[in-house]
Amino acid sequence: MKPRFTILVCGSNGQLGSAIKAENKNTAHHFIYTDLAEMDISSEDSVEENIEKHKPNIIINCAAYTAVDVAEEEQSMAELLNTTAVTILSDACYRHKIFMIHISTDYVFDGRNFKPYEECDPANPLSVYGYTKLQGEQQMILSGCNGVIIRTSWLYSAYGNNFVKTILKHAQHKESLNVVFDQVGTPTYANDLADGILTIANNHLNMEHVVTYNFSNEGVCSWYDFAQSIVEIAELNCHINPIKSAEYLTLAQRPYYTVLDKTQIKTDFNIEIPHWRESLKKCIFEINGNQYI
Ligand SMILES: NC(=O)c1ccc[n+]([C@@H]2O[C@H](COP(=O)([O-])OP(=O)(O)OC[C@H]3O[C@@H](n4cnc5c(N)ncnc54)[C@H](OP(=O)(O)O)[C@@H]3O)[C@@H](O)[C@H]2O)c1
Repeated sequence: MKPRFTILVCGSNGQLGSAIKAENKNTAHHFIYTDLAEMDISSEDSVEENIEKHKPNIIINCAAYTAVDVAEEEQSMAELLNTTAVTILSDACYRHKIFMIHISTDYVFDGRNFKPYEECDPANPLSVYGYTKLQGEQQMILSGCNGVIIRTSWLYSAYGNNFVKTILKHAQHKESLNVVFDQVGTPTYANDLADGILTIANNHLNMEHVVTYNFSNEGVCSWYDFAQSIVEIAELNCHINPIKSAEYLTLAQRPYYTVLDKTQIKTDFNIEIPHWRESLKKCIFEINGNQYI
């Protein structure tokens, strides 16, 4: 059977790209997975060559500069990947009439809200990472291409490095861990986001311009609650101490509150999103090599 769409994924060796590979097994589309070695999104030539070669209908951009603290000292690298590369990609998508699915972050917000952020709430990033991601969003909108921007938060999975894997690693050897309790948001299991992205890819045909959506799992927690749940589910004997952000200094300032309102994406695509604790169980079972029913 002829594939319905050709879908090119950039940055596919990262967490989200790996989750898309894992989730898409039964799809009717032809997927091309690229990472830096095959398609450098910061190079116009490399982007153009890949588009000429594969002639995609959809590009999913999972590539980004994601080291939030290092970005404070490597602003030009963060800018190159999170802003310039997004400009290159979205301009190419406009010229070649390719639908672009791009991923952004809750760190575009300053965290001073008192209720879940809607897509239309004003952005005001506190960090270089958040600022460069916001600039990338704006360049994509200016490009004139058709596509979606999905803002997500606290991404984790069985792949790469993330908070869940860090806590699992340290909690096996340490009696206690300090984790901040005054930053509140919602974890996102990369496989759930991958499912959402695949649903959008299947239903993108009548979408015009660039639409921004929020996506995280359901529910709300602090990093402390998240860590506490990780050790409980993994049955590890490690005490989690709640501490304030002021006691855990990082190079990048992080927003205190970034719960995302997901009404828009749930309504437009008729999707159900699991609660973060349910998805966390699945991820820990996957990391431990078990199946979760
Ligand atoms: N991680 C989070 O907590 C989080 C939270 C909110 C939003 N997001 C957003 O979600 C998206 C996916 O994040 P992730 O955690 O899956 O990222 P990730 O694991 O860091 O993966 C990014 C991938 O992009 C690749 N890459 C780097 N430079 C590239 C280039 N010039 N051309 C092509 N590929 C390149 C990286 O390769 P190397 O590893 O070799 O550099 C890596 O495989 C990003 O847009 C991120 O901003 C992430």
